[in-house]
Amino acid sequence: MSDPIYSYDEMMSDDDYARPHEEAGYKLHGGFDAEGRYVSPRMKVRSPAVDEWRERMVARGGGLIDADETLLAGETFPSYPQTKLMLQSGIDQGIWNSLTITGVIEARGRALLDYPAPDLQKIIVDDISAMAAGHLAKGLLHAHGMDEGGDPASDRGAHDAMWFAVRDTVFGKGAYPLPEVPENIGRPDSDRREIPDIPAEYEQLILLMMNVLMIEIRAEMIFDYYCKLLGDPDLFSAKREAAEWGVEIVNRIRQDEAIHVGYLQLVLSELRGCTFKTTDGKQVAGSELIDPVWERMVHWHAVDNPKLQREQSRKDVEARILTHPRGDEILAEFRALED
Ligand SMILES: [Fe+2]
Ligand SMILES: [Fe+2]
Repeated sequence: MSDPIYSYDEMMSDDDYARPHEEAGYKLHGGFDAEGRYVSPRMKVRSPAVDEWRERMVARGGGLIDADETLLAGETFPSYPQTKLMLQSGIDQGIWNSLTITGVIEARGRALLDYPAPDLQKIIVDDISAMAAGHLAKGLLHAHGMDEGGDPASDRGAHDAMWFAVRDTVFGKGAYPLPEVPENIGRPDSDRREIPDIPAEYEQLILLMMNVLMIEIRAEMIFDYYCKLLGDPDLFSAKREAAEWGVEIVNRIRQDEAIHVGYLQLVLSELRGCTFKTTDGKQVAGSELIDPVWERMVHWHAVDNPKLQREQSRKDVEARILTHPRGDEILAEFRALED
């Protein structure tokens, strides 16, 4: 069997769809197979390739780093019952804002198209040409960027358009003014080098992959939460059909996202198993370079950041509740749900 080495064009190729993905007047990425199942974009080669690279890594004796929701213990705030109370009281601006922010942040993923990823092979002893790590600049990063924010050469919308379609259909277009969107949802750069044994641009690439992987894992939890809300028969009673349609669209986004966690987890795991050439001419095991950095990254996303977010979010949510004519009463109920 030949080595799994693919060209950029292969990595970007779509399946042969039986019908294109169009919803509520939006032309969207991906399509449907002959049985009517949704097929994510650019998966024809990318999907089996990631599976094959993963099998080969495991066959070499490599293990996958943990990259699932168990890294992020803890309830979302507001909790499900709290959000439900607000929606049933007609306080829906928070969820409208949250869908808007999700869409805007998805669109920013397009930045991966312009990211000048350095060639990891230059600092790695092992041949990475038949690994996921050897395909970052050969389509993996670009396909990811296009999944999030769209292919600039196409008129088909991506995740950003899908979120806005859900928001506008369920809540009404322009229901509220555009909220402020946080500048950066990754861990801010620290002022000291994290992997000083390799050149800065490689450290940046590794940190980027780790940040994005943690953001993708959190996104999976958030998307679950949205699906549960939109699918809740007690909510959106005047718009049940639109809300059920929203669940369908969010599930398509989730299906597209799975490969993002998949390839980022795989590349970082592959790198752990490689031998790196350091700037001072030594050779060092990838795990020695990667593991402590990954541990700190997980800690920021799982512990430090949620704590900060929760405090800010509490202020915003409570202030919003108090603008309601029965605000005091609802706030008391909201707080009681905390226990
Ligand atoms: Fe996305
Ligand atoms: Fe993603």
